[in-house]
Amino acid sequence: MTSRVIPVAPFTLTVFGATGDLSRRKLIPALFHRDLDGQIPDDASIIGVSRRHLSDDEFRGFAHQALNDHIPASELQGPEVQRFLSRLTYVTADADGDPGWAELAARVESQPEHIPVYYLATAPHLFGPICERLGKFGLAAKGRVVIEKPIGKDLKSALALNEQVGRIFPEDRVYRIDHYLGKETVQNLMALRFANALFEPLWNNAHIDHVQITVAEALGVEERAGYYDTAGAMRDMVQNHILQLLCLVAMEPPSSLDADSVRDEKLKVLRALKPVDDHNVAALTVRGQYRAGASAGGAVPGYLEELGSATSSTETFVAVKAEVENWRWAGVPFYLRTGKRLASRVSEIVVGFKPVPHSVFDANAGPIESNRLVIRLQPDEGVKLWLMIKDPGPGGIRLTHVPLDMSFAKAFKVRNPDAYERLILDVVRGNQTLFMRRDEVEAAWRWVDPILAAWRGAKEPPRPYTAGTWGPSASIALIERDGRTWLEDGA
Ligand code: BG6
Repeated sequence: MTSRVIPVAPFTLTVFGATGDLSRRKLIPALFHRDLDGQIPDDASIIGVSRRHLSDDEFRGFAHQALNDHIPASELQGPEVQRFLSRLTYVTADADGDPGWAELAARVESQPEHIPVYYLATAPHLFGPICERLGKFGLAAKGRVVIEKPIGKDLKSALALNEQVGRIFPEDRVYRIDHYLGKETVQNLMALRFANALFEPLWNNAHIDHVQITVAEALGVEERAGYYDTAGAMRDMVQNHILQLLCLVAMEPPSSLDADSVRDEKLKVLRALKPVDDHNVAALTVRGQYRAGASAGGAVPGYLEELGSATSSTETFVAVKAEVENWRWAGVPFYLRTGKRLASRVSEIVVGFKPVPHSVFDANAGPIESNRLVIRLQPDEGVKLWLMIKDPGPGGIRLTHVPLDMSFAKAFKVRNPDAYERLILDVVRGNQTLFMRRDEVEAAWRWVDPILAAWRGAKEPPRPYTAGTWGPSASIALIERDGRTWLEDGA
């Protein structure tokens, strides 16, 4: 099966922080893949900007290396590599000074019919100064700006950052990336819910017992320890990726997939989250920090060793029992958990249905397990629906729990595009559906801030867990107290 390619309009994409990690690992490979698929128009251009002094050719050399490092060699054999590199040019400019900006303006304006897109792949404290200079040099009038988390470290700083960007760019031209929204399976969640008549009638507290959202990573913080120690798992993963997933599971059906229809519904979910603060934080949350252990068969250091510090109260693991206080979800817990250096890399949403109200089977049939819908984001994206069926063969009815299992890679035999491939071109298309609106980001912080404050107030260190396990035992107790259990790896 081949993928359908929808061409986009000609654009000029300016990447600030073009020689940084995000650009090298994600943006350049994503743009190349889209080009390879014939989706980038012939005269589209990409301008790299950073403080480093590089010529156009040196920047092309940097980009070529990024492709070699992140794209399989088999995809780099054809003339497409040189065609892609020839789209790239480079301007040296600093967010805090005027040199270079006039040259950048001249390059962008040399193609007045193009859609100007500015991707701020820089540290967040530069978002404001870069936007101001884009305004000052007349580049903001038609342009779209792309920014990425962290959007603040609390509500106050998020408001200030949104304000700075908003002074130059109206909200309908601000694209806040949460790359989880660009993942194939996240889009499939919308397809599952809204393109099938089957689930929606059951999608409520009469039929759903609970929901689990797990985003587990096997890697540690490694060279990102410096940033990570100022953030922790709550800010790094829960405030954005996990709450966005929760919104997509819990939101009411929007009237269309139009950006504001979807974002209005997500916002209502965020506003309906039951507050967690000093009074209930101990019962509803668990924080952890990994100690040395084993991963992928080898010994790995603990968080403090990676950080190079004797102490830190930053959490590398969080579990939260959240609730959405509205008619649809009253009484249905949403168990959320994420962590570094867990037993395996797995991101899943498990929707656990209620048990059947009465069994017609005798004791020989065995227990009846509840139905579950498992939406697997990674690895091996797909969907599993666990059902009870009869064990084949004579001798009476014995029941067994089996999954209808669909792996997208096996079913469709296409390469799964990286989230950034979809998101960058959605900016060119002017489609904001998969981007966070300002009020969503702020509502997420309104829920997260009191949890962070309660943790600070409690002054309890994060609970230790051994690298390569599923986190502190208190996280297991959090869900088992309710008579439920964490499910992982599609179980
Ligand atoms: C990022 C976090 O947003 O998401 C990282 O800052 C995390 O800490 C990453 O590792 C996970 O993304 P993915 O796509 O690999 O699941």
